[in-house]
Amino acid sequence: MGRIAFDHVVKKYGEVVAVDDISFEVADGEFLVLVGPSGCGKTSALRCLAGLEEVTDGKLYIGDREVTDMPPRDRDVAMVFQNYALYPHMDVYDNLAFALRLRKDMMATAAKDSGLPPKKTGLFGGLIGGKNAYAEAEIERRVTHAADILGMSEFLKRRPRQLSGGQRQRVALGRAIVREPEAFLMDEPLSNLDTQLRMQTRAEILKLHQRLKVTTIYVTHDQQEAMTMGDRIAVMNKGVIQQIDTPQRIYDHPTSLFVAAFIGSPAMNLLPITVQRSGDQVVLANGDFALPAPARVRMRLEEAIGKELTLGIRPEYVMAVPSSAGGTDHMDVVVDVVEPLGAEVLMYMSGAGAKQVVGRFDPNHRARVGDRLTVGFEQDHLHLFDPETGNALL
Ligand SMILES: Nc1ncnc2c1ncn2[C@@H]1O[C@H](COP(=O)(O)OP(=O)(O)O)[C@@H](O)[C@H]1O
Ligand SMILES: [Mg+2]
Repeated sequence: MGRIAFDHVVKKYGEVVAVDDISFEVADGEFLVLVGPSGCGKTSALRCLAGLEEVTDGKLYIGDREVTDMPPRDRDVAMVFQNYALYPHMDVYDNLAFALRLRKDMMATAAKDSGLPPKKTGLFGGLIGGKNAYAEAEIERRVTHAADILGMSEFLKRRPRQLSGGQRQRVALGRAIVREPEAFLMDEPLSNLDTQLRMQTRAEILKLHQRLKVTTIYVTHDQQEAMTMGDRIAVMNKGVIQQIDTPQRIYDHPTSLFVAAFIGSPAMNLLPITVQRSGDQVVLANGDFALPAPARVRMRLEEAIGKELTLGIRPEYVMAVPSSAGGTDHMDVVVDVVEPLGAEVLMYMSGAGAKQVVGRFDPNHRARVGDRLTVGFEQDHLHLFDPETGNALL
C-alpha cells in the first residue's frame, strides 16, 4: 500500500547539499509533517520523492515499489504547492478535470507508442483530448466526488476569479484528490492564506485525511502548524532529520538543542550553566543561581564537574515563588514585558548576569512591568544539553 520510505537520500545542487543523507518511513495512511526553517531542504526532499528532482544518492520507495529512477507520472503521488496556479479561463470543473484529461491523453499516446491498441480514443489517437467515453465518465465521477468532499459542488461552474482565496486553495487540493494517488505531498499549501483561513483550511485538510486515509507528507516551516497537524513530526535542519516522533514526545523530550529551541512558542528558556560541586551536591550554577542536579542525571554529572552546559526549561514550568523563599534554586528577576493573552499571561523577565527567562502564568497574576519577582523551575521538567554537540543529556 501507500507507505513511503527515504533510504539515505542525498540531494546536492552543485556544491550545495540541500538534503544530507535522510532516512525515514511514513506508514500507510499516516499524516507526517516535515517541519524546519526556510532553506533546510524540505522542498528538495519532496521534489525528489515526486520525481521532479533527481536524487544525488540513496533510494526512494512508494508503496512496494522502488521509484528512485521512475518518471514522475508513474510514481502515483499528487503534489500540492504553495503557489497553486489555477487556469483562470477554466471553470472549477475543468480545473479539476484538467490533469485527468491530460493523463488520459498521455495514456492513450503511450498505448499507441507501445503498439497496443489504444482504448477507444478519438480521431487523432487521443492526442488532442480524444473522446474516450469511459474515461470521461470516470473523470466526472472523480470530479463530483472531490467537489462533494470539499463542499465545492455548487461552485463547479465558477471561474477562479469568482472564488475566495480559501475556495481557490480547495480547488488546488481537489486537483490532487481527483488523481486518487497513493500519497499526497503538500508543500506549504496554506502559506498564502490569512491566519483565520489558514486555521480553517488546516482543519479541513485533517478532516480530508480522516476520510480518505491517504498517506500524506505535509511540509511547513511553522512549528505550531506541525504540532497541531501531524500524527508524527519530522524536524529537519540543514538537510538532516533531527528528530522524528509524535508532537507530544518531540515537545516533551527534544533530543537536541535545535529541536528544543525550534518547537514551542514562546521558545524553551535556555540558560548557560556550569556543573559545580557544592558540599556533597552537584549543582547547575549561573552566578548567584544554583539548582541541585536532578537525581536522574546526578551520576553522569559527577563526571562533568566544571563543564559548561545549557539548561532548558519551558515557560509553563517557570513558577513564581514567594520572595522570602531563600536558597539558591530561585532566581530574582525584574519583569520586562507582560503579554496578556486572555487564557494566560506571558512575562519576559531578566535576572542578574543578563539571564533572560520567559514564563507562562495564570491570567490572575497581576505583575506589571518593572515589578520584582522570584521564580523557580519545576525540577521534573528540566532539560540539559551539551552546547558543543547540541545533544540532550536529560
Ligand atoms: N534549484 C536549486 N539550485 C541550487 N540550489 C537550490 C535549488 N533549490 C534549492 N536550493 C538550495 O537548497 C537548499 C534547500 O532548499 P529547499 O529545499 O528549497 O528548502 P526549504 O523548502 O526547506 O526552504 C537551500 O540552500 C536552497 O538555496
Ligand atoms: Mg520550501
